[in-house]
Amino acid sequence: MKSLISVAELQDVSETLLLTLYARYKETQKIDGIIKDDKAVEIVEKLDYDFSKFDSWLIQAGVAIRTELFDNAIKSFLDSNPDGTVVNLGAGLCTKFFRLDNGFVNWYELDLPRVKSIWNKLIGETERHKYLAYSVTDFNWIEEIKQTHPKKVLFVAEGLMMYLSEADVKKIILSIKDNFPDSEMLCETTGKLVVKGLSLDSVVSKINQMFQWGINNLKDIENWGNGISVIKEWYYSDYHKERQGWMVFLGYIPILRKQAKLGHIKFS
Ligand SMILES: C[S@@+](CC[C@H](N)C(=O)[O-])C[C@H]1O[C@@H](n2cnc3c(N)ncnc32)[C@H](O)[C@@H]1O
Repeated sequence: MKSLISVAELQDVSETLLLTLYARYKETQKIDGIIKDDKAVEIVEKLDYDFSKFDSWLIQAGVAIRTELFDNAIKSFLDSNPDGTVVNLGAGLCTKFFRLDNGFVNWYELDLPRVKSIWNKLIGETERHKYLAYSVTDFNWIEEIKQTHPKKVLFVAEGLMMYLSEADVKKIILSIKDNFPDSEMLCETTGKLVVKGLSLDSVVSKINQMFQWGINNLKDIENWGNGISVIKEWYYSDYHKERQGWMVFLGYIPILRKQAKLGHIKFS
């Protein structure tokens, strides 16, 4: 029997990457699942970890919906920019590269240094798929990417910004805008009510305790500086209503609809 890989180094906020990974694993095993993530299944089966504490139909559906929305939006970017660069901030053990690789994209997974060894064991770098071991607030990663003289860049922040302070989120957005004019960003944000503790699920409420930043109207970030445009928003509650149970009604209340969303930002 093969020995399982320890994830002991995934402390604090980094442990949350196992939650989203597990949600994609569970969804893939559902016959009529929203997504198919065979790489997540392969990874989960190699890990020495009791995932059962993360069992939640709500998180599973939410992560599946957001994965589908992110995948479609990244695919659309790569259709227009086949040799573009994708920088996945707070990537964890994200498996999008394996679903979306078009043979040309340069793809960077950025996460904290403590996540790198586990990422190396389970995924590993290739010429067009690299790991950047930085905190997103340590802007040396920006210099590293600039040195590669990327063409069009898409930044992805899925399940990350809510764990940062508003001051840090602002610095990140403004640094990206200043260093990569003409770039784009796909950014998941939670609303202020979720940060204050609104939750209808015990697993979600444990995670919410770590949330720091929320915003109800993503367009408000356009006031942070010139050249920031929010060109599209997707509210998770609008999708796959058949999977939302009685919670589907919450999607009809505007303030609640804004609590879980994805925004497409353009910098100029
Ligand atoms: C909920 S997980 C999301 C992982 C992945 N994006 C996904 O959706 O499956 C949050 C991730 O953000 C990373 N993270 C948190 N704070 C960070 C920081 N300051 N810099 C870089 N990564 C960070 C954690 O290590 C973790 O991998």
